[in-house]
Amino acid sequence: MGLKIAVIGATGNVGHEMLDILDERGFPADEVAAIASRRSQGTEVSFGDRVLKVQALEHYDFAGTDLVLMSAGGAVSKEWSPKIAAKGAVVIDNSSAWRYDSDVPLIVPEVNADAVEGFRRRNIIANPNCSTAQLVVALKPLHDRARIRRVVVATYQSVSGAGKDAMDELFNQTRSVFVADPIEAKKFSKRIAFNVIPHIDVFMEDGATREEWKMMAETKKILDPKIKLTATCVRVPVFVGHSEAVNIEFEKPITAEEARDILREAPGCLVVDKREDGGYVTPYECAGEDATYISRIREDPTIANGLSLWVVTDNLRKGAALNAVQIAELLLNRRLIGAKKAA
Ligand SMILES: NC(=O)c1ccc[n+]([C@@H]2O[C@H](COP(=O)([O-])OP(=O)(O)OC[C@H]3O[C@@H](n4cnc5c(N)ncnc54)[C@H](OP(=O)(O)O)[C@@H]3O)[C@@H](O)[C@H]2O)c1
Repeated sequence: MGLKIAVIGATGNVGHEMLDILDERGFPADEVAAIASRRSQGTEVSFGDRVLKVQALEHYDFAGTDLVLMSAGGAVSKEWSPKIAAKGAVVIDNSSAWRYDSDVPLIVPEVNADAVEGFRRRNIIANPNCSTAQLVVALKPLHDRARIRRVVVATYQSVSGAGKDAMDELFNQTRSVFVADPIEAKKFSKRIAFNVIPHIDVFMEDGATREEWKMMAETKKILDPKIKLTATCVRVPVFVGHSEAVNIEFEKPITAEEARDILREAPGCLVVDKREDGGYVTPYECAGEDATYISRIREDPTIANGLSLWVVTDNLRKGAALNAVQIAELLLNRRLIGAKKAA
């Protein structure tokens, strides 16, 4: 029997994508509720060839709901996830509200699927930050082979990672540049059109930003606490698709050729690595796709056992909605949800 599902944040970037992916993958849902803030109550969102009326979070009754896919920001999740979980639904949350809670598993199914069993402690599962998700998909198979000691990563993150208003800001600023209108910056601290901004999320005491800290903390929690990671996270004027330039130091030797072969076989990875013009993937080409694309695999001769790579994915899919739906599928395949209905 199918499940009763609710998507919270259904009018947002990630929520839209969640509905599309649930439909595309034929997730066995008898009922799907689209939920957002009171502002959107009564508006419509599409779910496959159906149209769903958006309901307001505070008026929705979660009794009997099996699964909630939540992407409405940290404050909403902090308040609502425990209340919803207490009613018996498993919450898969996209915000950073629960990621560092030791009672909440932080899951990327290709990397640490077995950790999902820990969801019972709170009935909440966390989805990682978009830039971490694609990184650990690429790192895991290499770590299994040659043990990663240290990672240095620079990100090139699209504006969709900051929500739908941020996409509008890039569009409006770009237009303003062409028609010589004044540039308005609200979502970003500086103009994003025809610019790059080395600042995502708030600054921390040590000078890193919280986005950079998240990549370090989440890689440790998902993959291996022994891995050292330093990141520089940069917002770029791209609508969809995050890119990462990654330098990795391993304990054991590994050649670029070996890494290419390992990544070709690895779940979720797609290697496009021809050493010629255009023989690599850019964010524009990965938008709407599920894979984590890996290009520019090469040895780093400046350190022992070093490799450099270029990793690109659709941040709204593998970085958020797809990963959440994959977690839901994991719960279903392991019979961790739906049991009460099947019984
Ligand atoms: N975009 C990414 O690449 C990415 C990746 C990983 C994680 N995330 C996380 O996913 C979450 C959503 O991101 P997004 O990019 O989809 O943002 P978004 O486009 O700005 O959408 C936000 C959604 O949350 C809803 N919402 C806001 N306040 C609410 C409230 N009080 N009650 C109920 N619903 C409320 C909004 O509904 P209204 O339309 O009614 O305002 C909208 O549906 C964030 O926590 C973000 O950090 C995003």
